[in-house]
Amino acid sequence: MKPSFAVIGCGKVGGTLGMHLAEAGYRPVGFSSRHMTSARQAAEIAGVPDRCFEKAWEASRLADIVFITTPDDVIKEICRTMSENKGFAKNSVVFHCSGALASTELAAAKSGNALSGVMTGSMHPLQSFAAKQTATPGNPFNKIMMAVEGDPAAVETAREIAKDLGAQPFTITTDGKILYHAAAVVASNYLVTLMNLSIKLMAASGVGESEAFDILTPLIKGTLANIENAGIPAALTGPIARGDVGIVEKHVQAIRALSGEMAEYYNLNGFETIKVARAKGTLSEDAAKQLLKILSPE
Ligand SMILES: NC(=O)c1ccc[n+]([C@@H]2O[C@H](COP(=O)([O-])OP(=O)(O)OC[C@H]3O[C@@H](n4cnc5c(N)ncnc54)[C@H](OP(=O)(O)O)[C@@H]3O)[C@@H](O)[C@H]2O)c1
Repeated sequence: MKPSFAVIGCGKVGGTLGMHLAEAGYRPVGFSSRHMTSARQAAEIAGVPDRCFEKAWEASRLADIVFITTPDDVIKEICRTMSENKGFAKNSVVFHCSGALASTELAAAKSGNALSGVMTGSMHPLQSFAAKQTATPGNPFNKIMMAVEGDPAAVETAREIAKDLGAQPFTITTDGKILYHAAAVVASNYLVTLMNLSIKLMAASGVGESEAFDILTPLIKGTLANIENAGIPAALTGPIARGDVGIVEKHVQAIRALSGEMAEYYNLNGFETIKVARAKGTLSEDAAKQLLKILSPE
């Protein structure tokens, strides 16, 4: 028999998790949220409409596994209040789903009035949940990556849960959690920012902004495929990898004429690209020095 679980904070992630854990055979025993309407809705879609509670600790103390899926900035305080009210059962496992915070945020579950044997961990689904789950089909956990860390037994439980949800777990260190999150921000959010710059430059070249993305899409997909197939640094192409100093100089001049800020961004990325090109072995030391000079502030 699968363990029982409770969800505290029935928003986008909490409600979705509740529904799909129930579908995977975990036993929903308690839902609690800031507003009873959210708790009720989550309990309903998990198939247990009468399992909503006003106080978080009334829901959580019934469960083998507790998910605190509130906004990040209140996780610590809610966990402390729940612990003070004996909200965690003996030997239960407490998780949050934040990408940036580590399991240490849940330290109160193991101290003070807490019952013995409580373990803590974090399970971060690398997925964007834009809306609250409704009882419609489709599992957003399917085939996504799930970062887990925490007490060894909590990590083991988290890995099991991730697999039962259809996700692929990978274990990270507690100390490394914040850098893991920064990496995800760079890969996802900064990619959007980078594309924004690219589209602006394309528009400045005379191509309509609305067409720019479509024009760039095959290039972006090709680059991602090259990274996937050949890895970094082999996937790097272009004037920096070739040591084409004259072209890069023209880029910098043209972008500076448009915007100092854009040029600064281009240059900073260029510095990092020089390192990748050197690692690839296609950029000579002499060309790298010339490029560094060109990309340095005027
Ligand atoms: N959304 C994503 O794409 C995503 C992806 C990965 C991880 N996460 C993580 O998942 C967690 C939840 O994020 P979310 O996007 O699901 O947030 P959300 O949709 O805003 O849901 C959070 C819920 O917490 C409840 N809440 C707020 N303050 C509370 C309190 N003091 N006591 C009890 N419940 C409270 C709110 O309940 P009411 O509805 O009752 O007001 C809200 O529905 C966060 O740790 C976040 O970092 C989010």
